[in-house]
Amino acid sequence: MKKYFVIGNPINHSLSPKLHNYWLKENNIDAIYDKKKIDAKDLQTIISEVKEKKIEGINVTVPFKKAVIPFLDKLSPEAEQTQSVNTIILTNNILVGHNTDISGFTRAIKDLNFNIEGKKIFILGAGGVVPSIIFALNKMNVSEIIISNRTRQKADDLKSQFKIINVIDWGNIPKFDMIINATSLGLNNETLNFNFSEVGDNKLFYDVIYNPSETNFLKEGKKLGNQSENGKLMFMYQASVSFKLWHGVEPKININTLKLLEND
Ligand code: ATR
Repeated sequence: MKKYFVIGNPINHSLSPKLHNYWLKENNIDAIYDKKKIDAKDLQTIISEVKEKKIEGINVTVPFKKAVIPFLDKLSPEAEQTQSVNTIILTNNILVGHNTDISGFTRAIKDLNFNIEGKKIFILGAGGVVPSIIFALNKMNVSEIIISNRTRQKADDLKSQFKIINVIDWGNIPKFDMIINATSLGLNNETLNFNFSEVGDNKLFYDVIYNPSETNFLKEGKKLGNQSENGKLMFMYQASVSFKLWHGVEPKININTLKLLEND
């Protein structure tokens, strides 16, 4: 039976196996998708197993999206430009790294009732998924991208990768049309210590986190009269693009798949 894995550390929270196994069954594909917690020293071995066809494909999550790159033969243009890989596949005996977070985010935004073109975007955080979000926003022709991260250096490093962004100190709130929480704050119901009371309404509060489905950040945005959206669709879409790359079939996203991501 064909084997697929999502690798990361931590990995326990990952809902990718649930979703991929559901789609495998729905499409009558004889394969299994599992999660594997690994350390950086294990990367080379597990990726070589794809080359040896012991594993058919790998999804990569925090903190290895960049670290896998030296072990691959080739990157898709999007993976190359973001230096971020979340999907590995063997194509004509060549190990290729793809980035499906970009189309995941893009499709999720397009599904919303929010015209993003020409808008001012404020991103909190500078972790693994942020290069993909910046890349996608830039392609969607936003007018400005401002980044703030607790550890300023990480945001400054992003600035050298993406000249178009502006970096501001943690704690400051600029004028924006859309704010994205790309930090891990909220996963355990923590609250960001920001006072959003002056930001006004009719903004979009977007959280990359989908579990819990409504973080305190989203609750606060909503309370102030803003649109709020969690990362569920982004997660679904990135998974569906990986699935299509591996299996050649576009899996269905519907009420049943959305239900799979609800709290156990
Ligand atoms: P990684 O940084 O390994 O890629 P991540 O989950 O993608 O991991 O990113 C975590 C993000 O949440 C980072 O931007 C992190 O800020 P630092 O770079 O300063 O660590 C942010 N984060 C995590 N805990 C935070 C906290 N208590 N306050 C503010 N930001 C926090």
